[in-house]
Amino acid sequence: MKYCIVTGGAGYVGAHCCKELAAVGYFPVVVDNLSRGHKQFAKWGAFREGDLRDHAFLDAVFKEFLPEAVFHFAGYTYVGESVEKPLLYYNNNVVATISLLDAMRENACNNIIFSSTAATYGNPQYTPIDEKHPQEPINPYGQSKLFIEKILEDYDRAYGIKYSALRYFNASGADEDGEIGEEHDPETHLIPLVIQAALGKRKNVKIFGEDYPTPDGTAVRDYVHVTDLATAHIKAFERLAHTGESISLNLGTGKGTSVLEIIESVRRVSGRPLEAVMAERRAGDPPVLVADSSAAGKILDWKCRYNDVDAIVKTAWNWHSKNL
Ligand code: UFG
Repeated sequence: MKYCIVTGGAGYVGAHCCKELAAVGYFPVVVDNLSRGHKQFAKWGAFREGDLRDHAFLDAVFKEFLPEAVFHFAGYTYVGESVEKPLLYYNNNVVATISLLDAMRENACNNIIFSSTAATYGNPQYTPIDEKHPQEPINPYGQSKLFIEKILEDYDRAYGIKYSALRYFNASGADEDGEIGEEHDPETHLIPLVIQAALGKRKNVKIFGEDYPTPDGTAVRDYVHVTDLATAHIKAFERLAHTGESISLNLGTGKGTSVLEIIESVRRVSGRPLEAVMAERRAGDPPVLVADSSAAGKILDWKCRYNDVDAIVKTAWNWHSKNL
């Protein structure tokens, strides 16, 4: 059996990756402290509850499974919270990763696929953003992920731990079979919030800013389906195992969608009325964030199955309408 440790495997992107890993013959071992994950999402492979900063716990998991690789999703991801509580992010994201890397080193596990983010780029200096774009994060969340990328480079040089750092744009949608989906508490992401409004779980959805320099005045993002992200992780691992070369890659569709277009899409997909109200811009939001993922396309032979925003929203709608 080919074992992989999946940290944060009870979270949104991690759980989708476990499902894909199991589908292609790997045995995912979810390691999650459940501080923000959902136990019911850890349904493939094995589950070990514990914290990455607990050395004895982690060491025991490595010794039990002798994994070929680590898929590292565990981490906090709220930009606003990271501004208010930076230490929480440096501790939970950076310190935990150092502990994980040390356990890998001690147990001769030399491949890691790391969940990084477009937030490491900060305010875009040009668009679409390729991997050569300067990385100047504007909040502690992005900073914590960039620190980890730098630590990975150093561990590669010093100890030969090879990595793929995958910088996602806006992870969205849900598993096609409706087994898992996006569930954050509190929810801050656009698509789930718009769907909650369509389901009558909230009165309306607020549009943060209508005066951006974009075609309809609302902010534009690159929404990439979570199952496409999961597939990219597996391809990145297989390439890493094959070539032994570390790499950092963007993951997005290359297509920008505005806030208003998302709202229209939810209206179309759900067939429900929903109220949208204009609000102030949210601090720290760039007008446009779109990926140039051509490198991932070429190097990983990766193509998004979901290129159409309605198709992405449909999977999210199916999940939320069944589970809310
Ligand atoms: N938005 C609204 N109303 C809402 C919520 C969001 O108008 O109620 C807008 C935001 O202002 C933004 C867009 O919808 O323009 C998308 O917002 P999300 O919160 O869904 O996603 P972000 O682009 O802010 O964040 C995502 C990830 C972060 C990551 C960031 C940059 O969730 O983890 O992309 O890569 F840091």
